[in-house]
Amino acid sequence: MPGNIIAVDGFSSTGKSTLASKLAKHYNFYYLNSGLMYRIISYFALNNGCIIKDKIKESQLINKLDNLNFDWMIDNKGNRSLSFDGKIFGEEMYSFEISDVVSSVAKLESVRKFLFTQQKNLAIEKSIVVEGRDIGTVVFPDAKVKFFLIADLDIRTTRRNKQIEENNISFDKKKIEDNLIKRDRTDSERKIAPLKKAKNAFEIDTSKKSQLEVFNIARKFIDSNFET
Ligand code: DC
Repeated sequence: MPGNIIAVDGFSSTGKSTLASKLAKHYNFYYLNSGLMYRIISYFALNNGCIIKDKIKESQLINKLDNLNFDWMIDNKGNRSLSFDGKIFGEEMYSFEISDVVSSVAKLESVRKFLFTQQKNLAIEKSIVVEGRDIGTVVFPDAKVKFFLIADLDIRTTRRNKQIEENNISFDKKKIEDNLIKRDRTDSERKIAPLKKAKNAFEIDTSKKSQLEVFNIARKFIDSNFET
């Protein structure tokens, strides 16, 4: 029996991770960042010769993923973390190299199928906050609560820039903005599980709100509409 599921979908850099992790902490739910799963698969593909000169070798990638799984693990700070093939991956998954290929990897039907099953397994008998693009529409259409985050492009670019700088990777703003536009387009226009708002999702525009304001709006919505 699946437990309580809170879906947080939306465009890149709209504050999904911040909101989803805050909600998970507040309600003591597991936190699953499905975008990170696509990034880990992209990293795996790059490191296993499955992407050569921007061309993805889909069947080779899927064969190599056979028998590899995502799972929950306790990290060295004692937190529940996502692991893949027994390893925990962090900020290095947000490099420009990975951001540049991840939307193309996420378009592949076999990759989406593989991760769909993995996401379902990670949620078995758990109360969980899951963030992504297709969580409320495709992966967990019966999620109890669904949020959809939006924000202005220039604000998203500034936020992404800040996040990258904090990780000591420096890129110019134009390059970041172009990457966001390109990913928005690929994510929204792809055939399988495109990014779109679920009919019953609660939309929050985070452009002019602090992280705490966004969290409080979401928390109030949950507490006044649902029993967690
Ligand atoms: O949230 P993010 O920017 O780290 O996600 C990386 C990419 O993965 C993004 O370009 C779209 C894709 N993605 C997806 O297709 N479906 C999801 N549920 C989550 C992410």
